[in-house]
Amino acid sequence: MTQLDGIQVCVFDAYGTLFDVHAAAAALKQEIGPKADQLSATWRTKQLEYTWLRSLMSAYKPFWDVTQDGLDYALEEAGLLDHADLRQKLLDLYFKLAAYQEVPDMLTRLRAKGLKTAILSNGSMDMLNGAVDSAGIGDRLDAILSVEMVGIFKPDPRVYQLVTDHFDLPDRSSVAFMSSNGWDASGAAYYGFQTVWVNRFGKPWERLEGSPKAVLTTLDSLPDLIAS
Ligand code: LAC
Repeated sequence: MTQLDGIQVCVFDAYGTLFDVHAAAAALKQEIGPKADQLSATWRTKQLEYTWLRSLMSAYKPFWDVTQDGLDYALEEAGLLDHADLRQKLLDLYFKLAAYQEVPDMLTRLRAKGLKTAILSNGSMDMLNGAVDSAGIGDRLDAILSVEMVGIFKPDPRVYQLVTDHFDLPDRSSVAFMSSNGWDASGAAYYGFQTVWVNRFGKPWERLEGSPKAVLTTLDSLPDLIAS
């Protein structure tokens, strides 16, 4: 089943790939009411749109702030903007999002094969540390790399370059990059990483540059794809 050869480092997108971005609204479904799913979807869409737009506008601000802006848009659309309590609870939950259930064991299996592991995310360092700590996976990661270090969001190539710089890799194709976000998998493949698209949400492939080397629905079988 091996499909990726010559890999030294396995790099993961964080939100949507390792951590379930819809877990916060799901935990408060009763309190939010029938608009919970729509609120969560709009929150995620706006959060991402604001990253792309801010990169184009050269108006970077940390992902934690962008996450709050996206939430405020979604709350207003749902008629819930004056529910300060709910807003705070959603943010607290987002700060320590649950990891998908297969993640801890999958990381252990990769490291047992002698591979390095890392996160590369739009997330601010504090929120990434919060999620990694609450998932208890800090000891299974060699690095947590944040766009904070370059002040622009994915899919700018300077973000993917953080990985090659950090691990001092002359060859981009020695990186396996995993993302559930098709546009992020596209950006990473276009940069030159061997990319696995984790299509958790059953989406069509984006009409952008680059192609994934493999497509999975969860990360469970990832270690089988990568040669030791
Ligand atoms: C991240 C966003 C793309 O973690 O989910 O970088």
